[in-house]
Amino acid sequence: MTGTTSPTIGLVALVGGGPGDDALVTVRGRELLGLADVVIADRLGPRGLLEELAPDVEVIDVGKAPGNHAATQDEINALLVTHALAGRRVVRFKGGDPYILGRGSEEREHCRRFGIETEVVPGITSAIAVPAAAGIPLTHRGLSRGFTVISGHEDLDVVPRASGHTLVILMGVKTLRRSATQLMVHGFDAETPVGIVESGCTPEQRVTLGRLGGIADLAVERRVQNPAVIVVGDVVTLAHDWPHFPAPTIPASKVPTSEIPAPAMAGASLERSHHD
Ligand SMILES: C[S@@+](CC[C@H](N)C(=O)[O-])C[C@H]1O[C@@H](n2cnc3c(N)ncnc32)[C@H](O)[C@@H]1O
Repeated sequence: MTGTTSPTIGLVALVGGGPGDDALVTVRGRELLGLADVVIADRLGPRGLLEELAPDVEVIDVGKAPGNHAATQDEINALLVTHALAGRRVVRFKGGDPYILGRGSEEREHCRRFGIETEVVPGITSAIAVPAAAGIPLTHRGLSRGFTVISGHEDLDVVPRASGHTLVILMGVKTLRRSATQLMVHGFDAETPVGIVESGCTPEQRVTLGRLGGIADLAVERRVQNPAVIVVGDVVTLAHDWPHFPAPTIPASKVPTSEIPAPAMAGASLERSHHD
């Protein structure tokens, strides 16, 4: 099931579905979905494409949804192998990219142990696409030369803290207070801009902007929920909703310093949704 050939029977394709928008799935991913006998789908992949599948395609939902327990990784691995060994064309349809904090390589290894051939189709990772949907580039000349993607379950004491670097945290809502504290203890300035993008690239997208020192309280106040991508760094000031002050009408040199507004977050006007 490699290259652009059609899959033969009994193979598993690990397809990255991107951040949730049907339009952000690769051509190869769509092609394989159209050839599948069984699709084993995550909650965060694009759901609309599942509705377009032929009626005889079996869709197995392994994501956590209201009233539906999420399958364990062992259960998912067993499903992949059972269906492939039964001679079916299996698509494991995953959110984002299979290899970015998505356990795709574990699924591939498990299939290999049973002699099952796999094809891995990259997807657009939420780590990049979701900030971009809010206007936040992860690199920008003069603001950031690189980025780190990390899970919020990790200790953040080892991430680069040089200015000119962006930190992207996935699965980080629950641990946001701990993460923000850890970052400040390890040298991040409390004024570092932070953006939280919930349900990015979907109609429910909502953006919360603040600064590291106050972001945990702001997230509680706004009842920020998963799924969300958290971006820490100066590139957040490029977000669509980051407040920009009007250019002064008199030369800056003539404005008394006391009258220049501080470029700080200014309360409620900053705390609006992307769609306000
Ligand atoms: C288990 S990780 C999988 C990441 C995936 N492999 C990828 O490349 O995007 C799930 C986390 O990705 C992030 N995520 C995925 N889709 C998202 C979306 N549409 N909006 C916001 N965050 C998203 C959230 O942090 C979520 O908790």
